[in-house]
Amino acid sequence: MKQLQHLFIFSFLLLFQLIPKLASAQDSLFIIPKPQLQTERPGFYLYPNLEEVYATKTFLATADLLHEHPYIHFQKAKLLLPGQLIPKQGIILIMADRKDPLAPNAYRLQVDTRRIIITAHQPAAMLNGIATLRQIAYTRKNGRTIPAVYIEDQPQFSYRGLMLDVSRHFYPISFLKKYIDIMSLYKLNTFHWHLTDGAGWRLEIKKYPELTNKAAWRTDDNWKKWWDGGRQYVEMGSPEAHGGFYTQEEAKDLVRYAAKRGITIIPEIEMPGHSEEVLAVYPNLSCSGKPYKNSEFCIGNEDTFTFLQNVINEVIAIFPSEYIHIGGDEADKTAWKECPKCQKRIKDLHLKDENELQSYAVKRMETYLTSKGKKLIGWDEILEGGLSPAATVMSWRGEKGGIEAANTGHDVIMTPGAYLYFDAYQTNPIGQPEAIGGYLPLKKVYSYFPVPAEISAANRKHILGIQANVWTEYMPTQNQTDYMVFPRAIALAEIGWTAEKNKNWDDFQLRLQKHYLLLQRFGIHYYVPSNELSILSKFDMVSRKASVSISSEQFHPEIRYTIDGSSPSVSSAVYKAPVELNVTSVVKAGIFKNKIQQGKTQELMVDIHKAIGKKVIYNNPWSSGYPAQKELTLVNGETGDLTYGDGQWQGFLGNFDVTIDMDTRTALNELKIRFMQLTGPGVYIPSDVSISVSEDGKDFRPIRKLENDVPVSDSSLRFKTFVFNLKGVSARYIRITGKNEQKGFVFTDEVVIY
Ligand code: ACM
Repeated sequence: MKQLQHLFIFSFLLLFQLIPKLASAQDSLFIIPKPQLQTERPGFYLYPNLEEVYATKTFLATADLLHEHPYIHFQKAKLLLPGQLIPKQGIILIMADRKDPLAPNAYRLQVDTRRIIITAHQPAAMLNGIATLRQIAYTRKNGRTIPAVYIEDQPQFSYRGLMLDVSRHFYPISFLKKYIDIMSLYKLNTFHWHLTDGAGWRLEIKKYPELTNKAAWRTDDNWKKWWDGGRQYVEMGSPEAHGGFYTQEEAKDLVRYAAKRGITIIPEIEMPGHSEEVLAVYPNLSCSGKPYKNSEFCIGNEDTFTFLQNVINEVIAIFPSEYIHIGGDEADKTAWKECPKCQKRIKDLHLKDENELQSYAVKRMETYLTSKGKKLIGWDEILEGGLSPAATVMSWRGEKGGIEAANTGHDVIMTPGAYLYFDAYQTNPIGQPEAIGGYLPLKKVYSYFPVPAEISAANRKHILGIQANVWTEYMPTQNQTDYMVFPRAIALAEIGWTAEKNKNWDDFQLRLQKHYLLLQRFGIHYYVPSNELSILSKFDMVSRKASVSISSEQFHPEIRYTIDGSSPSVSSAVYKAPVELNVTSVVKAGIFKNKIQQGKTQELMVDIHKAIGKKVIYNNPWSSGYPAQKELTLVNGETGDLTYGDGQWQGFLGNFDVTIDMDTRTALNELKIRFMQLTGPGVYIPSDVSISVSEDGKDFRPIRKLENDVPVSDSSLRFKTFVFNLKGVSARYIRITGKNEQKGFVFTDEVVIY
């Protein structure tokens, strides 16, 4: 009988193998971050109504997290003694044998039809195994079953962080718990809590009650309105008071909540800059001694250190984290230059300048933290003026600070603005809720790898990992914060965890499709992948052809396009691969689903024009920070996209002033030049653009001038193309001048000449 049964099962399995496609399409696991090794097996485990859970001693407490699994219900984990037979059924958490080749920070998850076994050497790794199990349940429509699978998995980096700024906007503990829940499901293991800043102090400090009686409250709930409207703090309880703070008990509760989920909370107490709120209520700690005057603590005043050390004493009693973050970014040193106390400090200690004064303050805090058994971490400015080797650096102004820090032996967390600042726009800013600026689509987050080649092999170990920062100036509501964080935080999770060789954008996108269900189940107001298309053209100087690619954030969309100027329709060509063009064309494209167009038609003018490949003479050189493709930029047949950091937009300080040498006298028809405006970072369209022409490159004859009509008061992202009719004009040299009246940056991407 048994034999027959086996035979039956065997033939059933064979049959099953004949339809693997169907089975895998329905039953695959779509885990993010992608595990190092994942082998799916036939069959399912079905969670019963009441589960038996067993754990070896080390994991008895860890097993508690299984209560957060939506389909695992159990009373209490049973102790599994050393040498005891592994139960045949249930969920079993096992301490790895000393001989087990499993890495110290890895977990092994084995699911078969009767039981689930997770093996690890330590609780942190076990929590990651449980996170995988929980995530699988939330990403499957029928989470009550889990396909049989064998997984071995470990992180690429030990530090995988997300920072939330609760000063610019205050969020309740319930919101932070949701944040931590999601982080744990994606194995992000550090929550950096930016608790203090000029927009409000958020942590109860018993010794300094004014911090939460007043410095936590302001005249407007909305940061921007408050910032533009006088930046006043008010007493808690007064009718116009908006804001809030966390009590020490609430903070301790959050620490426990996070620890249970494998997450460490690192508190940040900003110093010496970004401290307007403290100095408004304790003005004696500022250089002027007056409220609302300074944003930096006075470093010459001993009371400053008494205050900061007393604050730190209360902070370390709440947060067991090894690290304490002391900020250190963007300190404005001008007040120190005029302050007798600060200058006396510089003189007495033979410091070189105010940079060394900041460095003195950081080192002094570091000594204090070390005496309390803690480690200092700060933004990359803490490198300026020297830094103790034990301090850890968060590199945010690009990777430069991180490279320098790692090469001089400091541990580093990479959090460069261009890749990991989730306050940037994630799609075309036109039509988006206001954000601080920048452009950081999901794919760009996913592309980030935090170990630059400039770090020597021996110092690579100093890159502990990555972190994304969520600065909340433009996130006045919980929904808006969700929107900016997700799904970008899911890409963050994979770049922190998954080995570079196992990363794959298409595969990530495929898996991501299943994770919207998880976000929906947690009530996250995530950003929906847009129906916008990105149309990009690359020009090949040899073949003199443009290659146009069309992409979208949608997963495998049906894109239809035209190149004859007509609107795309359901009968237009389907986009499959880059389209080659050898004459000027306008490419128009749209996404179609069930024969209906989704979203708007997008178009790109692909100009294959006379100036491509010609010599550009820079009468005013490009700004060293924005060279783009250097002397090729303006005549390479390629236009920029939505951000001036994309390598096609060239930046200028002073007037825009270039001459195009057409090689020979050339009959002209038209000249087009496009500029960008984004007033936040100081990018303006020239107030007017003029054309002059010459035969010898020396004597120029002014022929055309156009005025800008985009108001400088418009703070949205704007583009303007100046189009000059040049019919009847012949010339060899064409000089284009744009007046930089705003004294900001001028950005342009291509000079198109027909
Ligand atoms: C920062 O973004 N100021 C660290």
